[in-house]
Amino acid sequence: MDKIVSFCKRRGFVYQSSEIYGGIRSSYDYGPLGVELKKNIKDEWWRRLVHMRDDVVGVDSAIIQHPRVWEASGHTATFNDMLVESRTSGRRYRADHLIEEATEIDAEGLSAEEMTKVIREDERIKDPVDGGRDFTEARPFNLMFETYTGPVKGPENLAFLRPETAQGIFTNFKNVLDTSRVKVPFGIAQQGKSFRNEITPGNFIFRTREFEQMEMEFFVEPGTDEEWHETWIQERWDWYTGLGMDPENLRVYEHPPEKLSHYSKRTVDIEYDFPFAGWSELEGVANRTDYDLSRHAEFSGQKLEYIDQGTGNRFVPYVIEPAAGADRVALAFIVDAYREEELEGESDDSRVVLKLHPRIAPVKAAVFPLTKKEPVSTKARELYNDLRGDYSIFYDETGAIGRRYRRQDEIGTPFCVTVDFDTLEDDQVTIRDRDTMQQERVPISEVRERLQRLISTGSAAAER
Ligand code: GAP
Repeated sequence: MDKIVSFCKRRGFVYQSSEIYGGIRSSYDYGPLGVELKKNIKDEWWRRLVHMRDDVVGVDSAIIQHPRVWEASGHTATFNDMLVESRTSGRRYRADHLIEEATEIDAEGLSAEEMTKVIREDERIKDPVDGGRDFTEARPFNLMFETYTGPVKGPENLAFLRPETAQGIFTNFKNVLDTSRVKVPFGIAQQGKSFRNEITPGNFIFRTREFEQMEMEFFVEPGTDEEWHETWIQERWDWYTGLGMDPENLRVYEHPPEKLSHYSKRTVDIEYDFPFAGWSELEGVANRTDYDLSRHAEFSGQKLEYIDQGTGNRFVPYVIEPAAGADRVALAFIVDAYREEELEGESDDSRVVLKLHPRIAPVKAAVFPLTKKEPVSTKARELYNDLRGDYSIFYDETGAIGRRYRRQDEIGTPFCVTVDFDTLEDDQVTIRDRDTMQQERVPISEVRERLQRLISTGSAAAER
C-alpha cells in the first residue's frame, strides 16, 4: 500500500487533501492524472450502461434532498455502524472491526448487546493504540452527515448529505416514467458524490467519508427479477474484465441470507483481491425487490407503480441494483495495472509500468520528436496539434528518448508516437506499444485512425 500511495502522489494521481495544513484524515484530492483516470472510468461505466443500451437513461439528482427521503429509505433509523469508545485512549472504533481484527469471530450483523458481550469477554480484543481493555458499551452510530439548510440551525432545517445516489433515482422514478419513453424493464443510472461519516475510514481511497458512486436501478416485472439479477452480475463482471482487470483478482461473493440488508432479497458483491486488504467489495449487485418504491409511495402518498400498456397489468417494479464506488474501482485498476519489470537487453534494466487499458489510461498517446531541433520538432508539433482534440495527448521533447518512454510507461500511456529524421523523407512515424515495447512504422496520414482502433479495442491490454 505504501508503494501505491507514494506512486500515486509522485505521479500526480492522488494527493492527501489539505496537505499544506498537515492533511485531513481520509480525505484525498485527485491530481492531473488521477482526475483523468477517474473520469475515464466513470465515462466507460456511463458508455456501457447508458449509451450502449436502449433501456437505461440517466439522472443527476441533488445531494441535499427532503429529509423524508431518508426516513422512507430506512437510513434515518438503520444506517448505523456499532461504535465503542476506549476509556484508556479515548479513541472510537467500529465494534465489528475491533472484534474481527483480533479474533476469528464474524461480527457483521451482531446486535449492540452481542458486540458488547464479545468485547468484554474475549481478552484478545484490545485497544490497538494502548492495549487497554476498558471499553464503553457498543452503540449504534448513524453514518449520515447532518447539515442545516438556510440561516437557522434548528431541527426544522435539519438535512442530510446523501449517503447513496440510489434514492435520488427512486424519487425520480415517476418523473422519468412520465417524461421519457422508457418501458419496464428499464434502468436509471446516476453517478455522483455520496457522504458517510465512517467511524474508521482507511486504506487510502478505499474507504473515505466523501466518495463517488456509480449506481443504476433497473426496474423489472416481479417474477423476472432473479433472471435479471444474474444478467447484471455477468454484465458487471464483463465490464471489469473487458477493461483489462485480471479475472484472477476478481470474485463474486454471495451474501448469506441472514446477513442481507433490510431491503435485499439477494446480494452479491464483486470483490477484488487487494494486496493490502485481501478480498474487498468493489461493488454490490442487489435485488432490492419493491422495497424502495413501496416505501416512497407510502411516505409520499404518491402512486409509484407501473402500468403495462399491453396487458393493462399494474405492479410495483422490482429493482436490480449494481452499485459501485468510482474511487475504489480506480484504486483496483491502479493496483491491478502496476508492475515493476526487469528488462533484458535494454539500456535501462527495469521499469515501472502501469498497464491500464487504453480506454481508461489518463493519457492516450505521447508525441515525441527524436530531437528538439527543427524541422523534426515542428513536424512533431503539427502531429500533436492534429491529434490533441480527439484524445488526451502529451507532447514531450526533453531528455533522452528512452527516458521519455519510461515516463509514459509509468503513467500508463499506451502509445508513444515518435517523429524522427526519416519522417522528413518518408512521412512515416513509429508507434511504440507500452506493453510489448514493439515499434511499428506507420504513415502519418494513418496515425489518427490507427490510434483510434488501438484505443477502442484495447489491443495493448489484450497483449498482456
Ligand atoms: N445503493 C447501495 C449502496 O450504496 P453500498 O454497498 O453501501 O451500496 C456501493 O455502496 C459502493 O459504494 C460500494 O461497493 C463501494 O464501492 C462504494 N462505497 C461505499 N462506501 C464507501 C466509502 N466509505 N468509501 C469509498 N467507497 C465507498
